[in-house]
Amino acid sequence: MADPDLAAEVHHAGGSYPVVAGWGIIDQLGQRLGDLGIKGPAYIITDENVMNPYGRSVQRSLQIAGIAAHVFIIPAGESSKSFDLAQHIFHWLVERRAERGQAIIAVGGGVAGDLAGFVAATFLRGVPFIQVPTSMAAMVDASIGGKVAVNLPEAKNMVGAFYQPKGVFADVQALSTLGKRELAEGWAEAIKHGFILDASLVDVFEEHAEALMNVEPQISTEVIRRSMAIKAEIVSQDERETLGIRILLNYGHTIGHGLESSTGYGQFFHGEGVSVGMMGAAYIAREMGMISDELVARQRTLLERFNLPIHAKGVSADQVLKAMSMDKKTVGGKNRFVLLEEAGKAVVRSDVPRDLVEATVRELTE
Ligand SMILES: NC(=O)c1ccc[n+]([C@@H]2O[C@H](COP(=O)([O-])OP(=O)(O)OC[C@H]3O[C@@H](n4cnc5c(N)ncnc54)[C@H](O)[C@@H]3O)[C@@H](O)[C@H]2O)c1
Repeated sequence: MADPDLAAEVHHAGGSYPVVAGWGIIDQLGQRLGDLGIKGPAYIITDENVMNPYGRSVQRSLQIAGIAAHVFIIPAGESSKSFDLAQHIFHWLVERRAERGQAIIAVGGGVAGDLAGFVAATFLRGVPFIQVPTSMAAMVDASIGGKVAVNLPEAKNMVGAFYQPKGVFADVQALSTLGKRELAEGWAEAIKHGFILDASLVDVFEEHAEALMNVEPQISTEVIRRSMAIKAEIVSQDERETLGIRILLNYGHTIGHGLESSTGYGQFFHGEGVSVGMMGAAYIAREMGMISDELVARQRTLLERFNLPIHAKGVSADQVLKAMSMDKKTVGGKNRFVLLEEAGKAVVRSDVPRDLVEATVRELTE
């Protein structure tokens, strides 16, 4: 029988895997992993905030299904995506005599997922990997597509791999314990999915903004599934970001990253930077004659309804522009921009005039 919680299947060079989202599905995880052929012992990697209740619930559900599970708890926050911590986990796995067929299960946000995935990709040259995302960013973005990494002091995500999980299982109910600001920045990424690829998802956001901010079960689960399906579709078409399709997910990221990095990652959450960046990209597209004022206003109104920032007044434009010039996705010294042609349709452009980029960043910040 078809799985009613299945959001999508990711297809990749080495096979395919299910992307599942449902309300309260953590309790069924043991059985689902059993169905995927996962046998114990398994190794859960989670963070200190997520351990209770989610890490614990995953462990219990596995145990009920006859899969013993050890747990490694990392400190919460980006600084855990380090070589140092990865090395601790390698030693912990060796001490427990972990073997090649045994799975690593990431339970948590993108930090736990990226770090656990990096460990899974490299320990014994690769062990089975399962994603149980609990933050919005992890559900609709980080857990799908196999990008795993740790940070270097010089820059984020500098060392990593493409390493696909065996399955992604999101319990949407977990979103109810996120703070409002965390929730909103997560929805920003899902709203982004709508603007670049699925106009009808933008309609759903407009119709149900308040219900989504209250994490009402039915609509939240539906939107998470649809958003996951968009990410799954993109990475299935362009697994290694070589075909110019996966890059569409960077809508709002060119200016957004510049903003995050120039403010030392302390002022804007990632999704908030993306929100401001989407407004910048919309202004650029309007100036280049690609979209109407109405679409710019529509995007602005929707972001505002989620309490997301639409400008970054007070931030130094020069610093943002400098950070943008160091973006690893620049080509020939020019930033590539993902721009809308209409709601639900985006293209990549490398020909945005420098003075338009500068004027846009100044408009957003000054
Ligand atoms: N691999 C990819 O394709 C990809 C894509 C996007 C982002 N990322 C990475 O993901 C990371 C950001 O992800 P994130 O925002 O999830 O960060 P995160 O993992 O640090 O989680 C944010 C905070 O939320 C807490 N949290 C998680 N789930 C919770 C829940 N259900 N209830 C309450 N608190 C909860 C965490 O403990 C943490 O304090 C970055 O390192 C980024 O580079 C990776």
